[in-house]
Amino acid sequence: MRTTFVTAALATAAFAARSFLDEPDTGIDDVLGDLEVGQLPNVTEMVGLNDFQWAARHYLPGKNYTYYRNGAGGEWSYRNNLEVYNRYSLKARVLNDITNVEDSMSTTILGFNFSNPFFISPCARADYAHPDAELNLMKAASAADTLYIISGFATKSIEEIAAVAAENYTFFSQLYTTSNDTANQILFDRSEAAGAKALIWSIDAPGSPSRQRASRYGVTSAVTKLTRLTWDVYAKYQKMTTLPIILKGIQSAADARAAIKHGVPAIILSNHGGRNLDGSRSSLEVALEIYKEDPAVFREIEVLADGGVRYGTDALRLMALGVKAVGLGRPIMFSNVFGEEGVAKAIEIMHSEVMNDAANLGVADLKKINAEFVDWTPNNWYS
Ligand SMILES: Cc1cc2nc3c(=O)[nH]c(=O)nc-3n(C[C@H](O)[C@H](O)[C@H](O)COP(=O)(O)O)c2cc1C
Ligand SMILES: *[C@@H]1O[C@H](CO)[C@@H](O)[C@H](O)[C@H]1NC(C)=O
Ligand SMILES: *[C@@H]1O[C@H](CO)[C@@H](O)[C@H](O)[C@H]1NC(C)=O
Ligand SMILES: *[C@@H]1O[C@H](CO)[C@@H](O)[C@H](O)[C@H]1NC(C)=O
Ligand SMILES: *[C@@H]1O[C@H](CO)[C@@H](O)[C@H](O)[C@H]1NC(C)=O
Ligand SMILES: *[C@@H]1O[C@H](CO)[C@@H](O)[C@H](O)[C@H]1NC(C)=O
Repeated sequence: MRTTFVTAALATAAFAARSFLDEPDTGIDDVLGDLEVGQLPNVTEMVGLNDFQWAARHYLPGKNYTYYRNGAGGEWSYRNNLEVYNRYSLKARVLNDITNVEDSMSTTILGFNFSNPFFISPCARADYAHPDAELNLMKAASAADTLYIISGFATKSIEEIAAVAAENYTFFSQLYTTSNDTANQILFDRSEAAGAKALIWSIDAPGSPSRQRASRYGVTSAVTKLTRLTWDVYAKYQKMTTLPIILKGIQSAADARAAIKHGVPAIILSNHGGRNLDGSRSSLEVALEIYKEDPAVFREIEVLADGGVRYGTDALRLMALGVKAVGLGRPIMFSNVFGEEGVAKAIEIMHSEVMNDAANLGVADLKKINAEFVDWTPNNWYS
C-alpha cells in the first residue's frame, strides 16, 4: 500500500503534460532513493526545505503524510503557491558591500524582537509526525529566537507547549472561534495565561473546505460548519482580551485596508496553504496587488504572509513588496519527523538561505529591500 502510494506520486510527476514540481528534482532520489519506505534518512542529509517533504513522504504512513500535504479542491491554489515565486525573476545588483547583511536578519513583530524575518505558521496536529508533537516546534523555535504561532488545533495543550519555551521567549497563539462566547473567552484567557503575547484569529474558513485528497484518508478539516466571522465579531473580541488580535487569511488589498480601518495591529496574507478556497490567490499576488493599489498599507499596518515559501528567494520576493516576515507551514511539520533536531535544521537552512540569497541579490540591509530587486512582469520560464 505504501509503496504504491510513493510510486503513484512519482508517476504523476513524470507523466503530467507540464510537470508540476511539488518537490523539484535536486538529486535527493539519486542519493537517498535506496532508503526503505518507512525509514528516515539522517537529518544531516537534509540540505533544503523540500528535503523534509521527501523524508516525510518516505517515512510516514500515507494517512499522516496526506494530512499535511493536502490542498483543497483540485489543488490549483496549492500548486500556484509553490510556482508563483519563480514567475517573477530576481534582478540582482552587484558590487554592493553586503558583508553586514546578517545583522539585518533580526526583525520586530508587534514590537517584539526576533532573530529571523520568518516564523512558524500555525499548523494543526503535530502528532502526525512525531509523538512529542508541538513540543519540538516550541523548543527549536525558542532556541533560535524565531516566532512560533501555536495552532488552535495543536495536539498538545497550549500550557504544555508554553512550558518548554526558553525563558523570555515570545510566542503567539492562533484561535478558531465559535458562536459560543463563553468558550471563546476561555480560549483567549488560556492563551494569555500561558504567556502568548498576541492572538491570531484565522478568518479564511467561514465554510468547510473541500479537501479531496484528505477525505480519502479520513483526515479532512476540523472546521465543519458555517461560522459567522465579521468585523463586528472582531470588534467584540477586541473587548474580550488585552492581547492584540492579528487577522490571518487576508486575501485582498481592500480587506487589508479594512483591517486598518478596524484597528487591527497586523495581518497575515494567506490562503491557508491552498487548503481552503481552491482558486484563491497566493499571498505574493495579494502583496503585489497591495503594492500597486494601496502601498501605504505596508507602512500603516504590519503585513506578514505565508504560503508556498520553500526557499530564501521566496521570502525575499515577499519582503521586496513590504512584507515584514514570512510564515512556513508544511516544511516545519515535515521537518518534525526528525523531532526537535529536524525543526532546528529547517530553521537553520532558512536562516542561511535568506541571508545568503539576500547577499547574492545585492541586498546589504534586509530592512531596505525594495521592489526594484524583482522583475514584476511575469517571465515565461514555464510556458
Ligand atoms: C497540516 C496543516 C495544518 C494547518 N492548520 C492550521 C491551523 O490550525 N490554523 C491556521 O490558522 N492555519 C493552519 N494551516 C495553515 C498554515 O498556517 C499556513 O497558512 C500554511 O500552511 C502556509 O502554507 P505552506 O504550508 O505552503 O507553508 C495549516 C496548514 C497545514 C499544512
Ligand atoms: C548522521 O550523520 C552524522 C554526520 O555525518 C554522523 O555523525 C551520525 O553518526 C549520523 N547518524 C546516523 C544515525 O547515521
Ligand atoms: C529589541 O531590540 C532593540 C534593538 O536591539 C532594543 O533596543 C530593545 O530593547 C529590544 N526590545 C526588547 C523587548 O527586547
Ligand atoms: C501517525 O499519526 C498518528 C495520529 O493519528 C500517530 O499516533 C502516529 O504516531 C503517527 N505516525 C508516525 C510515524 O508518526
Ligand atoms: C528575562 O527577562 C528578565 C526581565 O527583563 C531578565 O532579568 C532576565 O535576565 C531575562 N532572562 C534571559 C534568559 O534572558
Ligand atoms: C459554551 O461553552 C461553555 C464553556 O465551554 C459550555 O459550558 C457551554 O455549555 C457552551 N454553551 C453551549 C450553548 O454550547
